Amino acid sequence: MAEMKTVLSGIQPTGQLHLGNYFGAIQNWVKLQEQYRCYYSVVDYHAMTMPYDVKKLRTNTWDMIFSLVATGVKTENLFIQSLVPEHTELNWIFNCFCSYGQLTRMTQFKDKSGQVKDGGKDEFISVGLLDYPVLQTADILIYRADYVPVGKDQEQHLELARDIALRFNTQVGKEYFVLPEPLYTDTPKIRSTADPSRKMSKSAGEKHYINLYADEATIRRQIKSAVTDSGDTPDGKMADGVQNLFEIIKACGWDKEYRQLTEDYYSGHLKYVDLKQVTADALVSLTSQFIARRQEINADKKAIKDQIKQSSSDIRTVAQKTLREVKELVGLLNV
Ligand code: TRP
Repeated sequence: MAEMKTVLSGIQPTGQLHLGNYFGAIQNWVKLQEQYRCYYSVVDYHAMTMPYDVKKLRTNTWDMIFSLVATGVKTENLFIQSLVPEHTELNWIFNCFCSYGQLTRMTQFKDKSGQVKDGGKDEFISVGLLDYPVLQTADILIYRADYVPVGKDQEQHLELARDIALRFNTQVGKEYFVLPEPLYTDTPKIRSTADPSRKMSKSAGEKHYINLYADEATIRRQIKSAVTDSGDTPDGKMADGVQNLFEIIKACGWDKEYRQLTEDYYSGHLKYVDLKQVTADALVSLTSQFIARRQEINADKKAIKDQIKQSSSDIRTVAQKTLREVKELVGLLNV
């Protein structure tokens, strides 16, 4: 059997998962586990790059772990970044293979440092924020990942990872690192139900996202108040808000309903109340399974924590091997 290709991805411990995270990334993570050797990381070191609350980080990290496990991410594929401190050591080495100028030109750095200024958060822009993509490069290369499932917003970071890998290989005179490739999968892009012109995201504020673990009444209420047609859509083109509800139904796997409602839409018989009803039903039926698993986990958090500590320590041995080889290649000492 040919060796399995390796996939790596990471998510920041932002507290709760919302529908945009789930349909845009995590649902795909769960599927990829069947075909690839997957490493999925809750990137708590990355969460320190913006002003944050030290009292909440650890809880948020575990909550993100529980949320991911409840959706079907396998514990043996999942680890906590800071439990594999070799990522930061490789980060340092890569800092020396990456130009300062290239980092200052990264779009995400410009956006986020702009947010810090606009938010008036003491205008404190950490070196960590600038270095964010180099740590991300270490996350990826330390497992010699072949593929990184990415959205558009992460393309530039992956490009940097390839640049660093190439510069490293050239300088040490060996094709040591695999140049990771993006894994584009057709994941649905869920929009904010309050303002369908923007994508669903936490940073936009409360009403712009729906928690994956929200209770049934909340989901129904949020879908009921979803913006559908604002009236300024050109003829024949589905309004963003309407399309968004269709996307959600499809993403939940309700193909039959999706087809029927699409027919109704094009024959002019679709009532938006019905569309919303089906959307809410589809969501509730999907998320109720997650909520049930999440409750089981909550009843015995220690069991999952122990499994994650174990998987992190197993995964760490892979990272340690790479780091030993890297130190050898760059002229550092190994004990
Ligand atoms: N920067 C990614 C995000 O914000 C998170 C991340 C950290 C990541 N390390 C990674 C994603 C490695 C893919 C691979 O979504």
